[in-house]
Amino acid sequence: MSYVLIIGAKSDIAKEVARIYAKNGYNLYLVARDCDSITDLAKDIKIRSNVNVKLCEFDIAKFETHQSFYNGLEEKPLGVIVVAGYMSEQKECENNFEKTLNTINVNYTGAVSILNIIANDMEKNKNGFIIGVSSVAGDRGRKANYIYGSSKAAFSTYLSGLRNRLFESKVQVLTVKPGFVATKMTAGLDLPAKLTAQPENVAEDIFVAQQKGKDILYTKSIWGLVMLVIKHIPEFIFKKMSI
Ligand SMILES: NC(=O)c1ccc[n+]([C@@H]2O[C@H](COP(=O)([O-])OP(=O)(O)OC[C@H]3O[C@@H](n4cnc5c(N)ncnc54)[C@H](OP(=O)(O)O)[C@@H]3O)[C@@H](O)[C@H]2O)c1
Repeated sequence: MSYVLIIGAKSDIAKEVARIYAKNGYNLYLVARDCDSITDLAKDIKIRSNVNVKLCEFDIAKFETHQSFYNGLEEKPLGVIVVAGYMSEQKECENNFEKTLNTINVNYTGAVSILNIIANDMEKNKNGFIIGVSSVAGDRGRKANYIYGSSKAAFSTYLSGLRNRLFESKVQVLTVKPGFVATKMTAGLDLPAKLTAQPENVAEDIFVAQQKGKDILYTKSIWGLVMLVIKHIPEFIFKKMSI
């Protein structure tokens, strides 16, 4: 069976995505900055699903390592899922450009760096799928998180263009826009229960959307409607709001 490459495999969403792809017979490359904490996860997935699971060190912000990382994969993956992300504190970013730059590099530049390499290969082979986990925060800039939001907006736009480019090569590109998800990224935030998804539900939604050949996924689905309303609020009103 083919390999799926999961980038940012220590993320709570990524762990559930790994389980669901393995359950459906896919072999896995799980890649993250420091894989020690996911060796048990890898063993557990191997035993439960009887698939190959390979762990590799990978830092999405170390662009110079990306080509050799990809060249080193014995079997090239059928699919790649970029889950790595960094939600910075907005106020900290306003006063610390290093934080701002890391937000942009993890959420956008790093994803572009590795996906440019993989997309060229998939385009040549006329086969494969690419999934990018962006965010509803990229749909409209808000004062509470526009540094993070703008990096996700850039990523969503990149994925849209990539989808357009790879359509003729029959390579699927899926943009995932989660709303609130209960993970370590949002631990400590007071999230509204009705609008908050669990990582296993997000993973299930991602798998189903990818298998159906979808382009854009809002998860929970209610976020599609919420963002439609938010995107249509006129700017002269929106700029005065605190949401
Ligand atoms: N949770 C939400 O409400 C929510 C909403 C919308 C979108 N998202 C997006 O969903 C994705 C997954 O997030 P999550 O909620 O599962 O949070 P999470 O558990 O905190 O996962 C984020 C992951 O990104 C990894 N990462 C950060 N910098 C990296 C780097 N330089 N290289 C490689 N990996 C790096 C982190 O690795 P370390 O463990 O090594 O730090 C962490 O495992 C992110 O892209 C996030 O922006 C989340």
